[in-house]
Amino acid sequence: MPIRISAVAYQSAPYHDMLALRRRLLREPLGLVLTQVQLAAERDQVHLALWYDDVVAGTLLLVRPDAAGTARLRQMAVTPPLRGRGLGVALVRHAETMLRRLGARRIALSARETVVGFYERLGYQVEGERFIEVTIPHLCMARML
Ligand SMILES: CC(C)(COP(=O)(O)OP(=O)(O)OC[C@H]1O[C@@H](n2cnc3c(N)ncnc32)[C@H](O)[C@@H]1OP(=O)(O)O)[C@@H](O)C(=O)NCCC(=O)NCCS
Repeated sequence: MPIRISAVAYQSAPYHDMLALRRRLLREPLGLVLTQVQLAAERDQVHLALWYDDVVAGTLLLVRPDAAGTARLRQMAVTPPLRGRGLGVALVRHAETMLRRLGARRIALSARETVVGFYERLGYQVEGERFIEVTIPHLCMARML
């Protein structure tokens, strides 16, 4: 498959392709927008793009490890025609390798309730109670590296 995964620079052309995908897959279905304040707060995060035939087809943002060694994954999405082919797993595994190199010992995330099973297959475990974020149910999940 003509697949590759790479980090893209904040405000670069592929960053804006990722942003369009995030809006289309993660915010518009919920009737929400990504605000300029939210986007400015992502400047220091790693913007990981999944490319298919040189088109951005998946996104994942990495929050660098904190002092306790916990990093976070967020804004995970793969374009619908390419789902179910292992690309989501490839994105998460690539992120874990990058974060390990950056000193992470644990990865945490807020999972939409509908995708808890996806992260469980990858070794993440639910921690705590269900909560509402961006209007829909979520669960905290984490995995030691
Ligand atoms: C979640 C998502 C990123 C998965 O991407 P994907 O490329 O389809 O995932 P993969 O093909 O790598 O799936 C790996 C495994 O997880 C399973 N899986 C995928 N989505 C799942 C889900 N929602 N629930 C349970 N299992 C799931 C697959 O069946 C596959 O299992 P297998 O190895 O036994 O075949 C994708 O469905 C998506 O973009 N969803 C919409 C956006 C979203 O909800 N993002 C998460 C925000 S927290």
